[in-house]
Amino acid sequence: MSDKRKAAIAMSGAEFKSAGHQLIDKISIFLDTIEQKSVTTGESPRELQKLLQSIPFPVNGKPAEPLLLDAANRLFDHSLFNGHPKFHGYITSAPAPIGALADLLAAVVNANVGAQILSPMATEIEKQTLSWIAQFIGLPPGYGGIMVSGGNLANFTGFMAGITAKAPKSIKEDGISADGGRLLIYCSTATHTWIDKASVLFGLGKKSVRWIKTDTKGRMDIALLEQTISDDLNNGSKPIMIIGTAGDVSTGVVDDMKSLAIICRRYHLWFHIDGAYGICAAVVPSLNEMFEGIEEADSIALDPHKWLYSPLEAGCTLVKDPNHLMETYSSHPVYYNFDSHDDDVTHNFYEYGFQNSRGFRALKVWLALQQAGSSGYIQMIEEDIRLSRLLFRLANDHPELEALTQNLSITTLRFVPVEFQQTDDSNANTGLYGEALNALNKELLNELQHNGEVFLSNAIVGEKYCLRSCIVNFRTSEKDIFEIIEIIVRTGRKLSRKTSGIENTTH
Ligand SMILES: Cc1ncc(COP(=O)(O)O)c(C=O)c1O
Repeated sequence: MSDKRKAAIAMSGAEFKSAGHQLIDKISIFLDTIEQKSVTTGESPRELQKLLQSIPFPVNGKPAEPLLLDAANRLFDHSLFNGHPKFHGYITSAPAPIGALADLLAAVVNANVGAQILSPMATEIEKQTLSWIAQFIGLPPGYGGIMVSGGNLANFTGFMAGITAKAPKSIKEDGISADGGRLLIYCSTATHTWIDKASVLFGLGKKSVRWIKTDTKGRMDIALLEQTISDDLNNGSKPIMIIGTAGDVSTGVVDDMKSLAIICRRYHLWFHIDGAYGICAAVVPSLNEMFEGIEEADSIALDPHKWLYSPLEAGCTLVKDPNHLMETYSSHPVYYNFDSHDDDVTHNFYEYGFQNSRGFRALKVWLALQQAGSSGYIQMIEEDIRLSRLLFRLANDHPELEALTQNLSITTLRFVPVEFQQTDDSNANTGLYGEALNALNKELLNELQHNGEVFLSNAIVGEKYCLRSCIVNFRTSEKDIFEIIEIIVRTGRKLSRKTSGIENTTH
């Protein structure tokens, strides 16, 4: 009788080692040569589907090693690499290599970090990670929280805790009701789309969101905010929460947190901060003033997979009084025997958020924080900001580029062909000029996103369609910034020559 079962999915230590070594060899070469690759191949979904068509539905199994090496080849030859030094699109960081190894280790242990008894060490590591992140951005002791998949979920988690805390009736017993006035949430027009989803998902409805206009600096207009709250109170509605943004998704603006905190205190509102992208910059000494007031937040969303350079997925919610998470998410079904420790420090993460079974996301963040240290992170974040400012300066100095905004590590700019500058229309943003310039820059972005030399995204600043570079990338260097300027101008000239019809329509 054999004492070991031979399962189709099992691997012996020797098989694992051989496949693993070969895979790691390939990964190491990829990491050392990533900058020589294109950021993306620009292949269409149809072309990629064709590449998979030759793989039949798997009825009979195959050895693991060639499968893994084949998957690695497919991915290294046909992917977009956000670890490439010229990937500056959206807000996805270059992933820390230690995070990749951490994910491997986490998958092998496969801790279910829903309950402490199922993940004894992993639970403690997640708790320590959260308290380090809070300390890292300068929060006072006491904040706790939970790791989640990313910014949307991090914001949802804090948002729901705030509603539970501030709703006049028990959400758990009575649900969200508009009896006694609609519950209202206040945020700036620059707030990320998660708030739209949250208002619908959690039953408030989109009419519950008061979008407050931004001031000339792009920050939530404080006077308008206070006036709106006061009008709403007079009309019998129930303001319950203000959402400040620390680094807005388009242009990186940080709201005036100090003033938002004061208004929250004055009107007894929950203060939530969406710091998914930008709040990590609070670690930079020269930016401390910009982030004053974050220490008053009731809840904060922060994404390690943005500016802590963690591989996807890693977001987290930090809450000043973590009991609010328990009050929102905890339940005790009879089939859980999770409180068996006498110890009152047993911590079951399923009681602090949406998930039940949970992976060990904290490990990659915990290890990266130790590898770089807060001093290493300060240097990396400072350098991203310096390079973003350099990009802005170079664009500003270039006769065919218009630099529009620069905040944190986000710069927006657009290509303005010479023929547009020779017009006697002093405002080349209006009418046909404006439309043509917007169309040209949109086409330019599409071209750049497909040709693989650099990957940018877009923003709308005023009425202007522009290119947007967000640097959360520890591989980007000064050389990349100079080259990006050259690539934009070269591609812009090529497109504007091709569409010289613009000239005819605008003159
Ligand atoms: C300010 C802000 N909040 C929330 C999100 C959503 O984060 P995720 O894509 O990780 O869900 C983003 C994404 O870029 C963001 O910039």
